[in-house]
Amino acid sequence: MNVSEIFKTMNYGPAPESREAIEAWLQKNHKGFDLFINGQWQSSKAAQMFDSANPATGEVLGRITQATSDDVENAVKSASDAQSDWQKIGGHGRAKYLYAIARLLQKRARQFAVLESMDNGKSIRESRDIDIPLAVRHFYHHAGWAQLIDDEYSDFKPLGVVGQIIPWNFPLLMAAWKIAPAIAAGNCVVLKPAEYTSLTALMFAEVLQEANLPKGVVNIVTGDGSVGEMIVKHPNIAKIAFTGSTNVGRQIRKQTAGSGKKLTLELGGKSPFIVFDDADLDSAVEGIVDAIWFNQGQVCCAGSRLLVQESIASVLIEKIKWRMDKLIVGDPLDKCTDIGAIVDPSQKQRIESLVEQSVKEGATLWQPKVETPKVGCYYPPTLLCDVESSNVAANVEIFGPVLSVMSFRHQAEAIQLANNSRYGLAASVWSENINRALDVAPQIKAGVIWINTTNQFDASCGFGGYRESGMGREGGAEGMFEYLKFTGANKGEQSNSSLSIDSKETEQVTVKPVNLLGIDQTAKLYINGKQVRADNDSTVVVLNPAGESCGRVADGNRKDIRNAVEAAFKAESWSKTSGHLRAQILYYVAENLSYRREEFCRQLVQSAGSSQHQAEQEFDTAIHRLFSYAAWADKYEGSVHQPPIQGVALAMNEPVGIIGIGCPDDSPLLAFISLMASAVAMGNRVVIVPSEIAPLLATNLYQVFETSDLPAGVVNIVTGSKDALVKVLAEHSQVEGVWYHGSDQGCKMVELASAENLKRTWVNDGHKTDWLVHGNEKQFLRAACQVKNIWIPYGD
Ligand code: NAI
Repeated sequence: MNVSEIFKTMNYGPAPESREAIEAWLQKNHKGFDLFINGQWQSSKAAQMFDSANPATGEVLGRITQATSDDVENAVKSASDAQSDWQKIGGHGRAKYLYAIARLLQKRARQFAVLESMDNGKSIRESRDIDIPLAVRHFYHHAGWAQLIDDEYSDFKPLGVVGQIIPWNFPLLMAAWKIAPAIAAGNCVVLKPAEYTSLTALMFAEVLQEANLPKGVVNIVTGDGSVGEMIVKHPNIAKIAFTGSTNVGRQIRKQTAGSGKKLTLELGGKSPFIVFDDADLDSAVEGIVDAIWFNQGQVCCAGSRLLVQESIASVLIEKIKWRMDKLIVGDPLDKCTDIGAIVDPSQKQRIESLVEQSVKEGATLWQPKVETPKVGCYYPPTLLCDVESSNVAANVEIFGPVLSVMSFRHQAEAIQLANNSRYGLAASVWSENINRALDVAPQIKAGVIWINTTNQFDASCGFGGYRESGMGREGGAEGMFEYLKFTGANKGEQSNSSLSIDSKETEQVTVKPVNLLGIDQTAKLYINGKQVRADNDSTVVVLNPAGESCGRVADGNRKDIRNAVEAAFKAESWSKTSGHLRAQILYYVAENLSYRREEFCRQLVQSAGSSQHQAEQEFDTAIHRLFSYAAWADKYEGSVHQPPIQGVALAMNEPVGIIGIGCPDDSPLLAFISLMASAVAMGNRVVIVPSEIAPLLATNLYQVFETSDLPAGVVNIVTGSKDALVKVLAEHSQVEGVWYHGSDQGCKMVELASAENLKRTWVNDGHKTDWLVHGNEKQFLRAACQVKNIWIPYGD
């Protein structure tokens, strides 16, 4: 296009970014790249190489090494060797390296941006203004956490060698998201970039060398999914951090089950973009452009499901179409380009076939008459209207520039449609009525909510999903916990029997007589606030350590678990009630239990084999713990972040939902109370399977619950074969989290059985917990919550 044509059409003329520096860099490397292991470039002995192509042109940019198992072995060894010194240099020592990396990255920002656009196909405007600055910010922010770690995380230590597997949609940014917190926390890393886009990670290795990062702290091995799998399965890796497809995430969950490896999964999404009739529609249209055409829609949190209020649907759709006509699809290196190339022909084919299927299923397709380049891997911006809830485009992550449109009539329907997904990564809510937006935000099951904005990210704000969008958070204070382990420090808090309550000042509760040894006590199940017989009406004998019968408990089965989960489901209002009310009820449970000290201590002696002193210590600590969790109920709050926008992000601690709990045999009363009270204090409803050895301690709590105003269905207790019952919980689709204390095999079973819908699991990895230790109360609270970040920009 010449200047006079540009004047005629008033279209933007081409403004390509120079690729000279990158051409030179590729030539310098002879267009071939080794692995970065132990601080140096190492060629693989097997020397299998594959091409990395520019999706905008098809040209081969370089040859990448397909790492072998020996290479992965070397990388893990080099990380293990570096681990102890890296840990020893302390937070301040590590902060200096992170800071240096941030500075060096910033100095080479333009080079990284151009290389990223060439390798991935994303527009230079995005790589220059979003990917690279955010990667830099991540290192600066985490230099800060490294500096503060010795004070802020004094009860924690690094995990060891961490395996990190990243996708192709934000190659350098994902590397930064993974590496910065890991090394700030004192871990060493083996990172595998995605096979389509390894080049910026390899250029980043040069930055690590320039920063004089000690050898082996970060190792980069390239290759396809099989290399990722070798990392996942490596026995010397303490944690896997993965971003990518839900299917691979599920596979990794299964492969790591029972291994004790910590896991963070950042997976797919089908995020709703909700526009109410009182939204500023022109702003919403710009939001939609960012939500679904940013990075060609290849974004895990893309707002790919537009939910629009019926009364404004046709107006909004016309505005969107008008805007789509103006989008420029083309050369990623052109600064005028809005939509660049799709990363690889295989991804383009996937988009095409899903769109075709959606149309076959009844959707109406609309595409603007934009020109797409004849050469290269491009897909035009696409609108799918008339999408029914069952349509593939309403359910499956297309990972392309394709927006599905559905309408709703009122707020409740919008929320219901938004939550009608197996995913829960993000949501965007558009309304000029901030009251409405803030009412909707907590009701959407997603890890990030953007109000009148979208696709905002910052290193200070945790990012991660609910449900099948993954587990764990990246970024912010919560992201640091993912790379640390609790050292079990005992804060020296003493359990204290002086907590017994002055009965004169409180309402007296009638103490019912308790069955003792030799008396035929048969305890029922406790479901929906009622004592009920087991479905099969059978019971099992409970023996004490001396082999004498203490009584019988109901032998619960799959059907009983299902009934208990249904009761917990119906008790949803508990999750919405105030921390104040939950605290009151837990105090009341503690108070009513404290009246029965003698009886419970006797039971601990007789049925669990405790000495009188141990029994008293266990009981008193249980009361202390109930008080503590009652106290936390309205104090374990989130925080307000001030990311670099005009606005705030509220990090809210939300309950997980329904948690299934398998209790340990040791400290049967205290463990039950600790697990139950921490979960319930944070607003969860629980189905608990007590210790098989001393279940009567749990069943005797019914009477306490019944007199303590605990709403029906909040705590449900099913006795019987623990592992069999917990397995049913782990497989149940309505159970959102499973906590398990028991054998190695039990832990493995829970992690495997919960992989199907990617429940949050918290298992003891076969280790015993010292239930008398108080220092880990916050660990329980953290497991009982998931953090939702609500971004609220303000101003005009
Ligand atoms: P993918 O999940 O296969 O690849 C992501 C990363 O995992 C790559 O580094 C890959 O080499 C590695 N990987 C693949 N198989 C592995 C295994 N068995 N064990 C360990 N690592 C493994 O994603 P893919 O095939 O590139 O894209 C397919 C779909 O996944 C996309 O269309 C999109 O829907 C989704 N996706 C989601 C992403 C997100 O950010 N949540 C990113 C990339 C893809």
